[in-house]
Amino acid sequence: MINILKSSIIPIFLLSFFGCSDTKSKELASDMAFVDSLMARMTLEEKLGQMTQVDRQFLSDISDISKYGLGSLLSGGGSTPEVNEPKAWADMYDSYQREALKSRLKIPLIYGIDAVHGHNNVVGATIFPHNIGLGATRDPQIVEAVARATALEVAATGIDWDFAPCLAVPDDFRWGRTYEGFSENTELVSELGGAAVRGYQSAEINNPNGVLACAKHFIGDGGVAFGTGINSLIDQGDLQIDEEELRRVHLPPFKKAIDEGVATFMAAYNSWNDLRCHASKYLLTDLLKDELGFEGFVVSDWAAIENIPGDYKSDIIISINAGIDMVMVPGAVRDGKESFQNFLKLFKESVEEGSIPMERVDDAVKRILLIKKQSGLFERPFSDQSLLSNIGSQSHRDIAREAVKKSMVLLKNNNNVLPLPKSGKTIVVAGKGANDIGMQSGGWTISWQGGMGQTTDGTTILDAIKSSVDPGTVVEYSADGKGYTGDLAVVVIGEKPYAEMMGDRTDLKLDKEDRDVIARFTENDVPVVVVLLSGRPMIVTEEVDKWDGFIAAWLPGTEGSGVADVLFGDYKPTGKLSFSWPKSMDQFPIDPNDDHLYKFGYGLTY
Ligand code: GLC
Repeated sequence: MINILKSSIIPIFLLSFFGCSDTKSKELASDMAFVDSLMARMTLEEKLGQMTQVDRQFLSDISDISKYGLGSLLSGGGSTPEVNEPKAWADMYDSYQREALKSRLKIPLIYGIDAVHGHNNVVGATIFPHNIGLGATRDPQIVEAVARATALEVAATGIDWDFAPCLAVPDDFRWGRTYEGFSENTELVSELGGAAVRGYQSAEINNPNGVLACAKHFIGDGGVAFGTGINSLIDQGDLQIDEEELRRVHLPPFKKAIDEGVATFMAAYNSWNDLRCHASKYLLTDLLKDELGFEGFVVSDWAAIENIPGDYKSDIIISINAGIDMVMVPGAVRDGKESFQNFLKLFKESVEEGSIPMERVDDAVKRILLIKKQSGLFERPFSDQSLLSNIGSQSHRDIAREAVKKSMVLLKNNNNVLPLPKSGKTIVVAGKGANDIGMQSGGWTISWQGGMGQTTDGTTILDAIKSSVDPGTVVEYSADGKGYTGDLAVVVIGEKPYAEMMGDRTDLKLDKEDRDVIARFTENDVPVVVVLLSGRPMIVTEEVDKWDGFIAAWLPGTEGSGVADVLFGDYKPTGKLSFSWPKSMDQFPIDPNDDHLYKFGYGLTY
């Protein structure tokens, strides 16, 4: 496959040979010509600016954007406008874009964000199930619909680029990012990851209602060896497998994303046999760009180049030469990370002294500018605020509710305790997760780590249960399970929100608090249905026998109604485990053929 980027102008007939329709090939040729002519006028500083991504919170002044010709901004988790509401986001985006267009060549910036289960930084946005729940739906259509709705909410705020989908294939659930993966099964990750790319980008990346997707993290973050983490137990550690296993287990989802036309990739923090992915020319150039023919651009992860052994200047040289096209610096002096001003200074030195070839810079800038051109950024640089009403819309919440219903996995239903009666019983709802939007949404919600409490608008599981019973039927609520009179209990327990390395654990047993709440019912022979909110299977082997019903609800997001739909049988459960359910902590890394409490693919119905 001729790399379209290596040739300056591809003859039209050749483009049609490669399956481009006449119109498409003419558009591509015209975009290429536009980029070539723009690049011919760019200074070295302007080119390096295009390869620089800064978190907007670290701009010393908005004029930094035009002063340094920054090509990209991002909002890391929680990097929000002062007033966190949709219009403020769109106004903030437009202010940055206006500043970018003051630069000499008026090149629009591209703005990225982690909208990994809805536009999750924005208060009022629809929060969908995290990928672990979408994996249990086994339904590529709903995954595509969720991604499409997410893209529209992101685009409504002007933002162009979503650092999603995560295509990890997690095999050790002690990892805090397990829930960002669809499954432990490569084929399922490929199928659902491809559906997500289609949903985010839709058929044409020049779609004002869509966003650019980002296949992440390349490659192998889900297979890292426990105990090799950087400042953590496992996160960002070392992938200790041979190339055959890397290609068999971790590569297929990325190939599928390329087949679906994914516009960008994000390199992985982890190393592969002791070489950081960000430093691997074999992975980022020989494999990804040359062998797989990826023609978009590769962004680094947050300050990830600083994990490469050596000083910051050598980090820049090694990572750019390996194939990183844009560096997420992100410029956080606060975190003790490098500033973007220092990054640009060292980057320029490295090119001028020949440590980074000009051809490498030109290749990276061409990739970035071509994506900007093809996505319509030059023609439509600003937000379209007529789209704002889509954020948190009822139609999107209905899609989320559908996804929640389909993600529920029924693991136990003794004496047909489920579905619950809508009358005739007094249902007691208990547990720390029963009335908590923050807990049911998990990490990456409003803030990086997420948080407990009413962090955004939505329907708690308690509210959903109250709305489901017949008029006159009493629903009691007792978070700690004390002082109830009811005769049937729904206990909602599990993990408090976390993200990334903050979720690394050595032990996945239930909190004592949770076990105590459940015991307050089982001790009195009150039938109990446990609803588990978690970012991964947890070790319940010693407790589950005392439970009458057990549902894995994962991290469903704002639409708790989908949980109630299954509890009351308005939707018969169809979810199937996309991760094996271990009996004990010594079953990691997961072996699908091991003797688990519940096997991969397990799930009951009514
Ligand atoms: C984070 C994550 C990555 C995310 C990026 C920007 O550390 O590793 O998934 O896209 O930084 O927030």
